[in-house]
Amino acid sequence: MAANPPTILVIDDDSEIRYSLARVLSSRAYAVTAAASGEEGIAAVKQAAPDVIFLDVRMGGMGGIETLQHIRSINPRQLVILMTAFGTAQTAIEAMKYGAFDYIMKPFDPQKVLALAENALKTRADLHAAGEYRPVINTEDYKEGIVGSSPAMQEVFKTIGQVTASDVTVMITGESGTGKELVARSICQHSHRAGKPMIAVNCAAIPENLIESELFGHERGSFTGATGQRIGKFELCDGGTIFLDEIGDMAAATQTRILRVLQEGEIQRVGGTETIKVDVRVLAATNKDLEQLVKERLFREDLYYRLNVVRIRMPPLRERPEDIPAIVDYMLQTLEKQKKARVKKVSGEVLAVLLKQRWTGNVRELENVIYRSAVIAQGDTILLKDLPPEIRETAGPAATAPVSVAAPPAPIPAQPAAEAAVAAAEPPAVTPAPARPTPEPLPAPVAVPPPITVKEALDFVYAQLKAEGTEPVLERLEREMIERVLRDENGNLVRASERLGMTRTTLRKRIDTLRLKI
Ligand SMILES: Nc1ncnc2c1ncn2[C@@H]1O[C@H](COP(=O)(O)OP(=O)(O)OP(=O)(O)O)[C@@H](O)[C@H]1O
Ligand SMILES: [Mg+2]
Repeated sequence: MAANPPTILVIDDDSEIRYSLARVLSSRAYAVTAAASGEEGIAAVKQAAPDVIFLDVRMGGMGGIETLQHIRSINPRQLVILMTAFGTAQTAIEAMKYGAFDYIMKPFDPQKVLALAENALKTRADLHAAGEYRPVINTEDYKEGIVGSSPAMQEVFKTIGQVTASDVTVMITGESGTGKELVARSICQHSHRAGKPMIAVNCAAIPENLIESELFGHERGSFTGATGQRIGKFELCDGGTIFLDEIGDMAAATQTRILRVLQEGEIQRVGGTETIKVDVRVLAATNKDLEQLVKERLFREDLYYRLNVVRIRMPPLRERPEDIPAIVDYMLQTLEKQKKARVKKVSGEVLAVLLKQRWTGNVRELENVIYRSAVIAQGDTILLKDLPPEIRETAGPAATAPVSVAAPPAPIPAQPAAEAAVAAAEPPAVTPAPARPTPEPLPAPVAVPPPITVKEALDFVYAQLKAEGTEPVLERLEREMIERVLRDENGNLVRASERLGMTRTTLRKRIDTLRLKI
């Protein structure tokens, strides 16, 4: 394997630190270069971008944070590890804000320096492997935000188109987070009532004793606390559209009143005698099984038929995984426009994980996962490590296996005095990333690798052998295994052949063919 070694640039004005870091990193066959100031570092990056940079925060001349900003403006994907003095957590937070990959506190633990470098290099390789961004969709085509082109969604779009011209009552059903409200808004926007108000009422959120007053208003003194007259939602959106959300959670008395509005087109304020004509289109939604509620007599059957003139069933996301790439692209483009994140795409591995999820919270859950991951992702790509742990866990062993299934870090050779001083003091050299504006704490950047399973080890071995490609896989494995068993059994052919599951004669032949020494 003649690939060029990974390149690491150390920027620090302290020559001892430059020397010791270079020494630690060189133990892993990294090509290490050094710069003695921010200015010098920037010049080096302009000349040839290194794979990873270790950058000191406190330097004479241009400070670390300023240098970081310069470097990131030259190349926004450049991975930079900040080195801060112990006790400057504030600077660390600042560092992450300006896009550092991670930070490490001085004095360093050489093992952690190596783990951090390895982590950064893996991230760099993953970012590189994700390739260039190509938009999946043009967001202009999805002004209402309902993304998807699966057959189930096309049905939805068709029905929306059919019901916009009339005032027909539409019932939108589907699991939570499938986009029922979006559909209601879209129907409203395309209807002749577009210029008039659309009012959404969450029937589940308003206390039972207040909902009638909310919907129909009340007269002064009609109940304790009714100190003045109140105009209800139906009256307020006269000429417009009312969206009755979570209709399955509506109290029986309110159901009766709503039925009346639908039948007569008129309302009465609570405590009032006057009948008021209203011209309102009703859209309704629920994630409950209304038919079941009708059977259980918890929902009025006559109201059910009044509302259920046209039905739009929102498909759960897991039944249309083919829409996921477009939805993710839409969300990332939107986040970028809103300046909430700079991420453009997800890696192939991440997409595979997203496609496998059950998404019980549907598009809302996907949206939440994308947002959480996008704000912590470093480059322009969401990688596996950026996904929330509960989602990442479904990725399976091959995808989650830590980088360091390879040999543990090689021991660092005896250190000269200066280096020993760097490594001696106790405080943890690498800590989990500091708080960032994300709803979830960042996963510790340098995870202690969990013990690997045989299957993971075999996956790794296979991947390595495939990459080497110099020798037939079985032959190599056979040789390695026979050698190990023989060593274990102290060269005893009888016991070794039993363990290997072959006859002694076969073992003899294999030893000859594979030219093994015993
Ligand atoms: N097809 C879609 N494309 C893009 N975003 C969507 C899509 N469907 C839903 N969303 C987004 O998912 C979130 C949930 O959508 P919405 O509120 O319409 O769902 P809901 O069915 O009303 O959920 P609930 O039953 O929990 O009220 C919103 O932020 C919405 O923008
Ligand atoms: Mg809703």
